[in-house]
Amino acid sequence: MALLERAEWYDIARATNWTPTYVTDSELFPDVMSGAQGVSAEKWEVYDEPYKTSYPEYVRVQREKDAGAYSVKAALERSRMFENADPGWLSILKSHYGAIALGEYAAMSAEARMARFGRAPGMRNMATFGMLDENRHAQLQLYFPHEHCPKDRQFDWAHKAYHSNEWGAIAARHAFDDLFLARSATDIAVMLTFAFETGFTNMQFLGLAADAAETGDFTFSSLISSIQTDESRHAQIGGPALQVLITNGRKAEAQKLVDMAIARAWRIFSLLTGPAMDYYTPLEHRKQSFKEFMQEWIVGQFERSLIDLGLDLPWYWDKMIAEFEYQHHAYHLGVWFWRPTVWWNPAAGMTPDCRDWLEEKYPGWNDTFGKCWDVIIDNLLAGKPELTLPETLPIVCNMNQLPICAIPGKGWNVQDYPLDYNGRSYHFNSEIDRWIFQQDPVRYRDHMTVVDRFLAGQIQPANLAGALLYMDLAPGEIGSDAHQYAWVEAYRNTPRNKRIA
Ligand SMILES: [Fe+2]
Ligand SMILES: [Fe+2]
Repeated sequence: MALLERAEWYDIARATNWTPTYVTDSELFPDVMSGAQGVSAEKWEVYDEPYKTSYPEYVRVQREKDAGAYSVKAALERSRMFENADPGWLSILKSHYGAIALGEYAAMSAEARMARFGRAPGMRNMATFGMLDENRHAQLQLYFPHEHCPKDRQFDWAHKAYHSNEWGAIAARHAFDDLFLARSATDIAVMLTFAFETGFTNMQFLGLAADAAETGDFTFSSLISSIQTDESRHAQIGGPALQVLITNGRKAEAQKLVDMAIARAWRIFSLLTGPAMDYYTPLEHRKQSFKEFMQEWIVGQFERSLIDLGLDLPWYWDKMIAEFEYQHHAYHLGVWFWRPTVWWNPAAGMTPDCRDWLEEKYPGWNDTFGKCWDVIIDNLLAGKPELTLPETLPIVCNMNQLPICAIPGKGWNVQDYPLDYNGRSYHFNSEIDRWIFQQDPVRYRDHMTVVDRFLAGQIQPANLAGALLYMDLAPGEIGSDAHQYAWVEAYRNTPRNKRIA
């Protein structure tokens, strides 16, 4: 059978719209689902996605990608990567899989909403492929860790994390529900594909793929690269949607969505990627600091995407850049200290050489975060590990669901940003987190942080054991120091003044 050339049918296929006769247009595309912001269907029809593909092409390429990733995995099954890898690297894998795998599944639902309710036919077409992409990502990132489950139960959290009330899982769900599950098709295009994927997933995926290759974990490297090639395609759904909104006088609304999404994405990545890059990755394999990476990807590249589209930089841009210096150090210190409450083993990343590197990359680190680690090291050297473990819970931000924290020691800048709303007191990590809440208080007001739940008596017994039970962390899953404190020995005969020089 003769086939038409692609050029002869493609535009008709990708731009097909129809006029409903059995129902009204607003019944077919309810505003709450489409988020068209009053821009008419005709005006949405100019939507022009920069990346175009047809279904046969898509299937052929995806099949090759899957075959590539699965065959690298099969070929390296006996490589003993698991046995030989630095424990810090295994912790990166566990935290990544738990935080991301089912997030991909949620992203599939989000793409499905755009595929059905996107106001532009081109958007619906691209989102159909995006939906298939995200399904593939969820499958890959559930299948790859599965082989490690018999050796290490923490890998089971690739699937388990989102089904639990573990605090990191609550934080991830809160952000992902907000950015892409409880949103309209247009909001998803802006918040998920533009802000989150164009801006941030590059970092987690390109950065991690490079680190994985450097560390010798070629299975993970090929898995992550395979996923990233999909991301770079479907992330382009958002740009043309923003163009339609801006051209039709909806810039302020679009800007607000972008600003909220970047702020929320930044928090998640500073928790997940920051410690992975600056602490968990073995020193000899670190290419760039997290701050350098943020400056290159977010300030250097993403900033230009915002300006090119005709948007402004978010009002908090300088405040966020200032946070590159400290927020992830604070999260790392907290995660390590509250290590029984995570599903991976945090790597302290605290050898004397690591500290020199931190001081070089973040001048002043020894006088701030280093002061806290000094106390931890002294307690470990004195044989009092119990003093390095938590007995209480931190104050948790009512927006990002993470502990309120910033710079300790000589640079102290820790502050609560409170808000009273309808008789309830809320607490925020920064002006930015509080601003997000104020944009739509009804959306956020009823959520209880894990500490709110504790104080309301929902967590019993009301102690760490009760909290672990509530978070569903079983023995064998509870986190501990990745290197079993071996790094502390380097300090046994080192004078204190030398390590804080
Ligand atoms: Fe994905
Ligand atoms: Fe994606």
